[in-house]
Amino acid sequence: MRFHVLTLFPEMIEAGLGSGIIGRALEGGIISLHTVNIRQYTAERHGKVDDYPYGGGAGMLMQAQPVYDAHRAAAGGRKVRTVYVTPQGSPFTQKKAAEFAREEELVILCGHYEGIDERVLEEIVTDYVSIGDYVLTGGELPAMVMIDAIARLVPGVLGNGSSAEEESFFNDLLEYPQYSRPEVWREKRVPEVLLSGNHSRIAAWRLERARERTALRRPDLYARYEAKQAVRERLSGDKRNNIHMMESLARGRGEILYTDIWAGGEDILLYDEKCGTAMMTAGDGESGRRLSGILPEEAERVLITQPFLEELLAERHYRPAQRCRQVLYTMRNTLPVRHKDIRRLTADSLKDVCCGGGPGAEDYVRGRIEAGDMYGAFAEGKLVGFGGIHSDGRMGMLYVEPDYRRQGIGSALESYMVNRMLERGWTPYGHIREDNRAALSLQEKLGLYSAAKTFCWMEKNTCKQADDMLRF
Ligand code: ADE
Repeated sequence: MRFHVLTLFPEMIEAGLGSGIIGRALEGGIISLHTVNIRQYTAERHGKVDDYPYGGGAGMLMQAQPVYDAHRAAAGGRKVRTVYVTPQGSPFTQKKAAEFAREEELVILCGHYEGIDERVLEEIVTDYVSIGDYVLTGGELPAMVMIDAIARLVPGVLGNGSSAEEESFFNDLLEYPQYSRPEVWREKRVPEVLLSGNHSRIAAWRLERARERTALRRPDLYARYEAKQAVRERLSGDKRNNIHMMESLARGRGEILYTDIWAGGEDILLYDEKCGTAMMTAGDGESGRRLSGILPEEAERVLITQPFLEELLAERHYRPAQRCRQVLYTMRNTLPVRHKDIRRLTADSLKDVCCGGGPGAEDYVRGRIEAGDMYGAFAEGKLVGFGGIHSDGRMGMLYVEPDYRRQGIGSALESYMVNRMLERGWTPYGHIREDNRAALSLQEKLGLYSAAKTFCWMEKNTCKQADDMLRF
């Protein structure tokens, strides 16, 4: 990812981001930083970039022309998302950071003095962002804060591809307190449970401390957490049919856009913004219509289990793309993996993985490899099968080369993925096309349960080609 920063103080940005994890990512070329000194683009003498505001008032304004030309120098003719950091912007959040991290390039404009001539902002700015309700002397510190938060979400910056994703384990709760050596410091002991080696007691203790801390320090976050817990509890009454929604909430992916379960209803609309997937259950046709009315415009697909929703979604331009069985693994013990050479795939395997998929499929698989979520089975030094974890958290993409089928490789790959998901504290689940008898019986043999309902993936009509998330 490439960051361009338009500023009067490029040296401040370069010094601020030049060390630590971000400095290393810059050195390694995983991200890049291009600072543009606005002063170099002024047409006026003596490097002047500011002037008095028309209509009077305190202070000076940055003029339109140097800012515009500096932007041209950064973005060329390209349409690059351009953020103006200003206390008048909308709040910068983790969610916004994740959204910006999906851009290939980002321009950040740092203001100074009393602001910038409105006309140039109208021309170049796509997003107005504030890092908090206080006023700083300039936009450089906010730009650095944003770049740090965004860059650490770029695959490869933190070293281990999935570590930023896994933070969502404690989503909606603040982190629990942590302790390191020595065991006793100034007569304060490390809590006994942390020395017990009992992982489930430790996890329960941490969760309780995180809840306490959140309720006390961030009641707003705690209220959201409680709402999600209530929905998860309700869904857990029918785990086989609901595990997709439960896991989406547990992993901090799905947001509740609507529910009436408080009032004894059955309506739930979840939306996983990161992969454009909505999940919907409605009490009846009327609530189905209401829920489809509040689907976000950007939702690429909707996952439903109630046939009457198909018609309602058709009115919103979705068509059924695939009918599946949901399978899930409810035990805690890992599965034996009966193939010696299975490993996480790296970018060099991409050429062997795509198996004739379109360009979209290749991009999708590349993303999954970069996230550390694709695994390959190797035999005689070559890749003979692979499987992976989809961006929404399902296992899938299982494929074995024809010459290597019926040798237990598919089963070994599936077991391997189940184990990786268990390690992350997730409930392994997947979607198998209803007509794929062989895959369904493989799941059963491994001990995965199949849900009774048919899961229908509805896809937006505007999708030009088969959706890559559903292809495998
Ligand atoms: N510039 C000055 N103060 C700011 C803030 N709080 N957030 C973003 N940009 C700013």
